[in-house]
Amino acid sequence: MPKHYLILGDALNVLSKLKTKVDAVIVDPPYNTANKNTKVLKGRKARSSDFGKWDYFTRDEYLNFTAEWIRLTKPILNENGNLLIFSKLEYISDIKRIYEKLGFKHHGTMIWHKTNPAPQIRKNGFLSSCEAILWATNGFDNKKISYTFNFSKQNEMHNFIQTPICMGHERTAHPTQKPKKVLSHLIKIFTNEKDLILDCFAGSGTLAEAADELKRSSINIENDPDYFKIMKERLKKIKGVRNLKLKK
Ligand SMILES: C[S@@+](CC[C@H](N)C(=O)[O-])C[C@H]1O[C@@H](n2cnc3c(N)ncnc32)[C@H](O)[C@@H]1O
Repeated sequence: MPKHYLILGDALNVLSKLKTKVDAVIVDPPYNTANKNTKVLKGRKARSSDFGKWDYFTRDEYLNFTAEWIRLTKPILNENGNLLIFSKLEYISDIKRIYEKLGFKHHGTMIWHKTNPAPQIRKNGFLSSCEAILWATNGFDNKKISYTFNFSKQNEMHNFIQTPICMGHERTAHPTQKPKKVLSHLIKIFTNEKDLILDCFAGSGTLAEAADELKRSSINIENDPDYFKIMKERLKKIKGVRNLKLKK
Protein backbone atom coordinates (compact mmCIF):
# COMPACT_ATOMS: atom_id res chain seq x y z
CA MET A 1 0.00 0.00 0.00
CA PRO A 2 1.42 3.43 -0.88
CA LYS A 3 2.21 5.69 2.09
CA HIS A 4 1.84 9.45 2.15
CA TYR A 5 3.60 11.53 4.79
CA LEU A 6 2.23 15.01 5.47
CA ILE A 7 4.51 17.52 7.16
CA LEU A 8 3.35 20.93 8.35
CA GLY A 9 6.44 23.12 8.26
CA ASP A 10 8.79 25.31 6.31
CA ALA A 11 10.32 23.49 3.34
CA LEU A 12 13.84 24.80 3.95
CA ASN A 13 13.77 23.74 7.57
CA VAL A 14 12.20 20.31 6.91
CA LEU A 15 14.46 19.51 3.94
CA SER A 16 17.55 20.24 6.00
CA LYS A 17 16.40 17.58 8.53
CA LEU A 18 14.96 14.89 6.24
CA LYS A 19 16.98 11.70 6.37
CA THR A 20 14.96 9.72 3.79
CA LYS A 21 16.05 9.23 0.16
CA VAL A 22 13.42 9.79 -2.54
CA ASP A 23 13.17 8.57 -6.13
CA ALA A 24 11.85 11.83 -7.59
CA VAL A 25 11.13 15.42 -6.60
CA ILE A 26 8.06 16.91 -8.29
CA VAL A 27 7.41 20.44 -7.13
CA ASP A 28 5.10 23.32 -7.82
CA PRO A 29 6.86 26.05 -5.81
CA PRO A 30 5.73 29.64 -5.27
CA TYR A 31 5.87 31.40 -8.67
CA ASN A 32 6.37 34.98 -7.55
CA THR A 33 3.37 36.06 -9.60
CA ALA A 34 1.06 37.48 -6.94
CA ASN A 35 -0.14 41.05 -7.22
CA LYS A 36 -2.87 43.13 -5.68
CA ASN A 37 -5.02 43.18 -8.82
CA THR A 38 -8.51 41.79 -8.74
CA LYS A 39 -10.16 41.10 -12.09
CA VAL A 40 -13.90 41.58 -12.17
CA LEU A 41 -15.85 40.44 -15.21
CA LYS A 42 -19.53 41.19 -15.67
CA GLY A 43 -21.61 38.31 -14.41
CA ARG A 44 -18.60 36.40 -13.04
CA LYS A 45 -16.95 36.03 -9.65
CA ALA A 46 -14.08 38.46 -8.92
CA ARG A 47 -10.73 36.78 -9.58
CA SER A 48 -7.92 37.88 -7.33
CA SER A 49 -4.23 37.57 -8.17
CA ASP A 50 -3.34 38.09 -4.51
CA PHE A 51 -2.53 34.49 -3.61
CA GLY A 52 -1.03 35.35 -0.23
CA LYS A 53 2.27 36.51 1.16
CA TRP A 54 3.95 33.20 0.30
CA ASP A 55 4.04 34.31 -3.34
CA TYR A 56 5.58 37.78 -2.91
CA PHE A 57 9.32 38.07 -3.42
CA THR A 58 11.72 40.47 -5.11
CA ARG A 59 13.44 38.82 -8.08
CA ASP A 60 16.68 38.32 -6.12
CA GLU A 61 14.87 36.94 -3.09
CA TYR A 62 13.01 34.54 -5.35
CA LEU A 63 16.14 33.25 -7.04
CA ASN A 64 17.98 32.89 -3.71
CA PHE A 65 15.03 31.00 -2.25
CA THR A 66 14.89 28.76 -5.35
CA ALA A 67 18.62 28.04 -5.14
CA GLU A 68 18.32 27.20 -1.46
CA TRP A 69 15.46 24.69 -1.72
CA ILE A 70 16.99 23.01 -4.80
CA ARG A 71 20.34 22.72 -2.97
CA LEU A 72 18.57 21.05 -0.04
CA THR A 73 16.84 18.46 -2.26
CA LYS A 74 20.15 17.29 -3.77
CA PRO A 75 21.27 14.98 -0.91
CA ILE A 76 17.71 13.64 -0.53
CA LEU A 77 17.15 12.75 -4.19
CA ASN A 78 18.63 9.44 -5.37
CA GLU A 79 21.48 9.58 -7.86
CA ASN A 80 19.98 10.09 -11.36
CA GLY A 81 16.57 10.77 -9.74
CA ASN A 82 14.23 13.10 -11.62
CA LEU A 83 13.60 16.69 -10.55
CA LEU A 84 10.52 18.39 -12.04
CA ILE A 85 9.84 22.04 -11.29
CA PHE A 86 6.80 24.08 -12.34
CA SER A 87 7.67 27.65 -13.21
CA LYS A 88 6.41 30.67 -15.04
CA LEU A 89 8.07 31.04 -18.44
CA GLU A 90 10.14 34.08 -17.42
CA TYR A 91 12.19 32.03 -14.92
CA ILE A 92 13.10 29.03 -17.10
CA SER A 93 16.68 30.03 -17.79
CA ASP A 94 17.30 31.27 -14.23
CA ILE A 95 16.12 27.99 -12.69
CA LYS A 96 18.07 25.96 -15.25
CA ARG A 97 21.22 27.92 -14.42
CA ILE A 98 20.65 27.44 -10.68
CA TYR A 99 20.32 23.66 -10.82
CA GLU A 100 23.09 23.18 -13.36
CA LYS A 101 25.41 25.04 -10.98
CA LEU A 102 24.38 22.59 -8.27
CA GLY A 103 25.27 19.59 -10.43
CA PHE A 104 21.88 18.66 -11.87
CA LYS A 105 21.65 17.77 -15.56
CA HIS A 106 18.98 19.65 -17.54
CA HIS A 107 17.05 17.43 -19.97
CA GLY A 108 14.22 19.59 -21.21
CA THR A 109 11.23 21.80 -20.57
CA MET A 110 7.56 20.94 -20.99
CA ILE A 111 4.72 23.37 -21.45
CA TRP A 112 1.38 23.09 -19.68
CA HIS A 113 -1.25 24.97 -21.70
CA LYS A 114 -4.35 26.07 -19.82
CA THR A 115 -7.42 26.11 -22.00
CA ASN A 116 -9.30 28.48 -19.68
CA PRO A 117 -6.77 31.09 -18.46
CA ALA A 118 -7.80 34.34 -16.78
CA PRO A 119 -9.03 36.74 -19.47
CA GLN A 120 -7.06 39.81 -20.58
CA ILE A 121 -9.54 42.47 -19.57
CA ARG A 122 -7.59 45.46 -20.91
CA LYS A 123 -6.68 43.56 -24.12
CA ASN A 124 -3.18 45.00 -24.09
CA GLY A 125 -1.20 41.78 -23.94
CA PHE A 126 -1.43 38.00 -24.21
CA LEU A 127 -3.45 35.86 -21.83
CA SER A 128 -1.13 34.02 -19.50
CA SER A 129 -2.06 30.52 -20.64
CA CYS A 130 1.24 28.63 -20.45
CA GLU A 131 3.40 27.41 -17.59
CA ALA A 132 6.71 25.61 -17.83
CA ILE A 133 7.82 22.36 -16.21
CA LEU A 134 11.60 22.02 -16.09
CA TRP A 135 13.13 18.56 -16.04
CA ALA A 136 16.57 17.67 -14.66
CA THR A 137 18.24 14.67 -13.07
CA ASN A 138 20.49 14.51 -10.05
CA GLY A 139 23.65 13.83 -12.05
CA PHE A 140 23.79 11.88 -15.28
CA ASP A 141 25.62 8.83 -16.56
CA ASN A 142 26.59 9.49 -20.17
CA LYS A 143 27.05 5.82 -21.05
CA LYS A 144 23.54 4.62 -20.29
CA ILE A 145 20.11 6.07 -19.76
CA SER A 146 20.10 5.71 -16.02
CA TYR A 147 17.07 7.80 -15.11
CA THR A 148 13.39 6.80 -15.15
CA PHE A 149 11.68 7.90 -18.34
CA ASN A 150 8.66 5.77 -19.20
CA PHE A 151 8.17 6.51 -22.89
CA SER A 152 4.66 5.41 -23.91
CA LYS A 153 3.47 6.24 -27.45
CA GLN A 154 4.97 8.88 -29.75
CA ASN A 155 1.71 10.85 -29.73
CA GLU A 156 1.63 10.86 -25.90
CA MET A 157 5.19 12.07 -25.43
CA HIS A 158 4.99 15.65 -26.70
CA ASN A 159 6.69 18.22 -24.47
CA PHE A 160 3.27 19.80 -24.13
CA ILE A 161 0.17 19.05 -22.10
CA GLN A 162 -3.16 20.80 -22.35
CA THR A 163 -5.88 20.86 -19.70
CA PRO A 164 -8.22 23.39 -18.15
CA ILE A 165 -7.36 24.97 -14.80
CA CYS A 166 -8.96 22.92 -11.98
CA MET A 167 -12.68 23.26 -11.87
CA GLY A 168 -15.80 21.53 -10.58
CA HIS A 169 -15.58 18.73 -8.04
CA GLU A 170 -11.75 18.62 -8.25
CA ARG A 171 -11.38 22.23 -7.10
CA THR A 172 -10.44 22.95 -3.47
CA ALA A 173 -10.09 26.38 -1.84
CA HIS A 174 -6.38 26.50 -2.71
CA PRO A 175 -5.85 29.44 -5.12
CA THR A 176 -3.17 27.83 -7.30
CA GLN A 177 -4.19 24.16 -7.27
CA LYS A 178 -2.80 22.16 -10.23
CA PRO A 179 -5.00 19.75 -12.19
CA LYS A 180 -4.50 16.12 -11.18
CA LYS A 181 -4.26 15.20 -14.86
CA VAL A 182 -1.01 17.16 -15.23
CA LEU A 183 0.54 15.60 -12.11
CA SER A 184 -0.57 12.09 -13.11
CA HIS A 185 1.06 12.52 -16.52
CA LEU A 186 4.38 13.51 -14.93
CA ILE A 187 4.22 10.75 -12.31
CA LYS A 188 3.66 8.06 -14.98
CA ILE A 189 6.59 9.24 -17.09
CA PHE A 190 9.14 10.07 -14.41
CA THR A 191 8.51 7.45 -11.69
CA ASN A 192 7.67 3.77 -11.29
CA GLU A 193 5.19 1.97 -9.06
CA LYS A 194 6.34 1.88 -5.38
CA ASP A 195 8.61 4.91 -5.86
CA LEU A 196 8.72 7.61 -3.20
CA ILE A 197 8.12 11.17 -4.48
CA LEU A 198 8.83 14.41 -2.63
CA ASP A 199 6.68 17.54 -2.98
CA CYS A 200 8.01 20.26 -0.67
CA PHE A 201 5.36 22.85 -1.65
CA ALA A 202 2.37 20.58 -1.43
CA GLY A 203 -0.54 23.06 -1.32
CA SER A 204 -3.80 21.12 -1.51
CA GLY A 205 -2.08 17.74 -1.96
CA THR A 206 -2.59 17.17 -5.70
CA LEU A 207 0.70 15.28 -6.01
CA ALA A 208 -0.18 12.92 -3.14
CA GLU A 209 -3.64 12.15 -4.52
CA ALA A 210 -2.30 11.45 -8.02
CA ALA A 211 0.61 9.40 -6.61
CA ASP A 212 -1.71 7.21 -4.58
CA GLU A 213 -3.88 6.43 -7.60
CA LEU A 214 -0.73 5.39 -9.47
CA LYS A 215 0.62 3.28 -6.57
CA ARG A 216 3.49 5.61 -5.66
CA SER A 217 4.22 6.95 -2.15
CA SER A 218 4.89 10.57 -1.28
CA ILE A 219 6.27 13.08 1.23
CA ASN A 220 4.33 16.35 1.25
CA ILE A 221 5.53 19.52 2.98
CA GLU A 222 3.30 22.59 3.34
CA ASN A 223 3.84 25.53 5.69
CA ASP A 224 0.44 27.21 5.59
CA PRO A 225 -1.86 25.66 8.23
CA ASP A 226 -4.99 26.48 6.20
CA TYR A 227 -3.67 24.78 3.05
CA PHE A 228 -2.37 21.91 5.17
CA LYS A 229 -5.94 21.44 6.47
CA ILE A 230 -7.26 21.43 2.89
CA MET A 231 -4.70 18.77 1.96
CA LYS A 232 -5.59 16.62 5.01
CA GLU A 233 -9.29 16.84 4.23
CA ARG A 234 -8.68 16.01 0.57
CA LEU A 235 -6.55 12.97 1.39
CA LYS A 236 -8.62 11.57 4.25
CA LYS A 237 -10.14 8.95 1.92
CA ILE A 238 -6.63 7.49 1.41
CA LYS A 239 -5.60 4.78 3.88
CA GLY A 240 -1.82 5.22 3.91
CA VAL A 241 -1.76 8.90 4.98
CA ARG A 242 0.35 9.78 8.05
CA ASN A 243 1.11 13.12 9.70
CA LEU A 244 4.81 13.42 10.33
CA LYS A 245 6.46 15.63 12.95
CA LEU A 246 10.21 15.95 12.61
CA LYS A 247 12.40 15.92 15.71
CA LYS A 248 13.78 19.36 16.60
C1 LIG B 1 1.98 26.85 -6.13
S1 LIG B 1 1.40 26.28 -4.60
C2 LIG B 1 1.30 24.51 -4.77
C3 LIG B 1 -0.06 24.05 -5.21
C4 LIG B 1 -0.18 22.54 -5.32
N1 LIG B 1 0.61 22.02 -6.40
C5 LIG B 1 -1.62 22.11 -5.50
O1 LIG B 1 -1.97 21.51 -6.54
O2 LIG B 1 -2.43 22.41 -4.61
C6 LIG B 1 2.80 26.49 -3.57
C7 LIG B 1 2.56 26.14 -2.12
O3 LIG B 1 3.80 26.28 -1.42
C8 LIG B 1 3.51 26.71 -0.10
N2 LIG B 1 4.76 27.32 0.42
C9 LIG B 1 5.29 28.52 0.14
N3 LIG B 1 6.45 28.71 0.78
C10 LIG B 1 6.68 27.56 1.48
C11 LIG B 1 7.72 27.12 2.34
N4 LIG B 1 8.78 27.89 2.60
N5 LIG B 1 7.64 25.88 2.89
C12 LIG B 1 6.57 25.07 2.62
N6 LIG B 1 5.53 25.44 1.81
C13 LIG B 1 5.58 26.67 1.26
C14 LIG B 1 2.36 27.71 -0.25
O4 LIG B 1 1.66 27.85 0.95
C15 LIG B 1 1.56 27.03 -1.38
O5 LIG B 1 0.53 26.22 -0.86
